[in-house]
Amino acid sequence: NSPVITIDGPSGSGKGTIAFRLAQKLEWPILDSGAIYRVLGLAAHQAGIASTNINELVKLARDLPLTFVTEQSSDEVVAYLDGEPVGDAIRTDEAGQRASEVAVIPEVRSALLARQRDFQQPPGLIADGRDMGTVVFPDADAKIFLTASAETRAERRFNQLKQKGISASLCALLESIKERDERDRTRTVAPLVPAAGAFVVDSSTLSIDEVFSQVYEYSMK
Ligand code: CDP
Repeated sequence: NSPVITIDGPSGSGKGTIAFRLAQKLEWPILDSGAIYRVLGLAAHQAGIASTNINELVKLARDLPLTFVTEQSSDEVVAYLDGEPVGDAIRTDEAGQRASEVAVIPEVRSALLARQRDFQQPPGLIADGRDMGTVVFPDADAKIFLTASAETRAERRFNQLKQKGISASLCALLESIKERDERDRTRTVAPLVPAAGAFVVDSSTLSIDEVFSQVYEYSMK
């Protein structure tokens, strides 16, 4: 099997940035599993499927014509739905909340398992999410869990959205992050917890370079 490095953690913990740096360094693609849940939440919303309609959501999860491209020029994975770029519509806070609502449904998570595992191909994969090390790739070669205080994470999200020109209030983002953390942590299937043996980094008081060098050193052991 090709090697996999998993990076899990809550919203704003810096997973995306670290995943990107690792991907560039190793020249491996990224599985941005959060983007799958975000696109699914958005597609369900657009199709008028309620978060209680499990059958329809599972169908959507299985059949969604979704592809990803890791563009070295941008700093995130670009999602394509039916060949069209999804764009920043999945990056809003609202899309994050919708994603976490469909993500609590066990049947939806199982429907997405095979799709996610298909990304494991040579030369290797960086898998970014919540349950990459615990559920999707339990045999991963290196498992990382990034975390930070809710305040730090809300501030990072705020700056990130601002850069994209998406307006948000810091106060509302903090509330939203806490709400999403609670939902992600207390759900019955694949709750957000570090995988056994994961390398845990609290990035609250560390720079991106500091986090990256710790993570890189650990991954290469
Ligand atoms: O970027 P951010 O951490 O804010 O969110 P994300 O990684 O794009 O994930 C959005 C939501 O999808 C999370 O709040 C989770 O509820 C869900 N998710 C999940 O359940 N499992 C994953 N592997 C990735 C995301």
